[in-house]
Amino acid sequence: MKRYYIETYGCQMNVADSELVSGLMEQSGYVPAESEYEADAIFLNTCAIREHAEEKIHSRLGTLRKLKEGRPETIIGLLGCMAQHVKDDILEHKSYVDFVLGPDSYRRLPALLRRQKETANSIVDTRLSRFEVYENLYPSRNEGINAWVSIMRGCDKFCTFCIVPFTRGRERSRIMASIVEEVEQAVAQGFVEITLLGQNVNSYRSEGSRFPELLHAVSEVPAVERIRFTSPHPQDVDDEMLFVMRDRPNICNSVHLPLQAGSDRILNRMNRTYTKSEFISLAERIRHILPGCGLSTDIIAGFPGETEEEFAQTLEVMERVNFDSAFTFKYSPRPGTKAEEYSNHISEEVKQGRLQQLIELQARHTLERNQNEIGKTVKVLVEKESKKSSADWAGRTDNNKWVIFPKGAAQIRDLTDVRIVAAKGVSLFGELAQIGEMPHAVA
Ligand code: SAH
Ligand code: SF4
Ligand code: F3S
Repeated sequence: MKRYYIETYGCQMNVADSELVSGLMEQSGYVPAESEYEADAIFLNTCAIREHAEEKIHSRLGTLRKLKEGRPETIIGLLGCMAQHVKDDILEHKSYVDFVLGPDSYRRLPALLRRQKETANSIVDTRLSRFEVYENLYPSRNEGINAWVSIMRGCDKFCTFCIVPFTRGRERSRIMASIVEEVEQAVAQGFVEITLLGQNVNSYRSEGSRFPELLHAVSEVPAVERIRFTSPHPQDVDDEMLFVMRDRPNICNSVHLPLQAGSDRILNRMNRTYTKSEFISLAERIRHILPGCGLSTDIIAGFPGETEEEFAQTLEVMERVNFDSAFTFKYSPRPGTKAEEYSNHISEEVKQGRLQQLIELQARHTLERNQNEIGKTVKVLVEKESKKSSADWAGRTDNNKWVIFPKGAAQIRDLTDVRIVAAKGVSLFGELAQIGEMPHAVA
């Protein structure tokens, strides 16, 4: 029996793609390996979003080269967003890599595995497709609570800092009926939470249907306890989407709303299509229609030409919106993007200093927002054992906050009432509500 092993880097889209590749490998007669040391085929599903992500892959390839020296028959494949960038280097210098496949080429994997036996050269296919959405391919999902369901691929927004439109190609959506069918199958397999995925998940558009209709249709699939989606673009958030979220109880009360920067000049140079005040109004609108909604964001420090005053506007938007959480990054120049060619790149030292300010401000906001939850009884989906203690469960609230609480009689997959008693760091701490409400009965 042949074994395969996939290591996944980058965003959830890559996690979902790795599950597709797993499905294809299993169709080709492979079974999953516990580690790379037991695998006949090893794949790295790569990310190119920042330079650091690419460096990690280069160092991993070095280790795999050594592994292959000891076991020359091992197949090594490089998949995903770095494929385009590295293909020339692989062809010229890294013949131990057998496959380089871009994100739209996975369907060909079984045929290429057969061909690989007959050729000594690396097989490279990094063509991007206008149509491929991997319809009728079934992902081999990791067991768990949450099933990733990819609904659209690619991005047409072309933010000037971002490599994704080049690595993933043009936007295209799956048809609604097939998404709903995939959700039904995931539920039949025991998944209780569905996360809809796309680089711009809410620009979904298929046969006249838009994202709000799709959300509604998915929320009507019986036994779907929770629906999440990522990553939306602020430009495509409309009232209709918010109304569906408000009216359907199983759609989680949380929105990821990437800000990127606070100054209008920088937003314009980023090609983000909204202004500072439009962004703030949108955040307020979301919290007005969806009270208690969790808001998370992405922010970049030190975009080319960003002055101290402009950076201060990012902090100001953060103060106005009070995000529940934020992913913060130093700007990383990406070859081939427009921003890479801009003048006035910011020094590493200044970027680091700004990043530090973002992290500190967000830590304060996260704590403040979490402290608001203390005393409330909230529904938590029990997801896994706490990393710190085998006596505790960890699960998320509807508005996407992690809660740690003593296990009691609760089981994994339960949607259970938890009373929040404390907030520390980025987590909440709670107790099962039945116990919390009847302290004397227990004594
Ligand atoms: N489609 C998603 C973003 C995917 S990339 C969206 O628009 O929200 C995730 C995050 O990585 C981006 O939101 C951005 O904050 C960050 N990012 C992208 N390119 C980057 C770069 N060149 N340098 C630093 N951060 C970057
Ligand atoms: Fe990148 Fe912008 Fe597209 Fe997001 S919307 S993937 S940041 S180009
Ligand atoms: Fe990285 Fe590609 Fe996702 S560049 S963030 S894996 S879309």
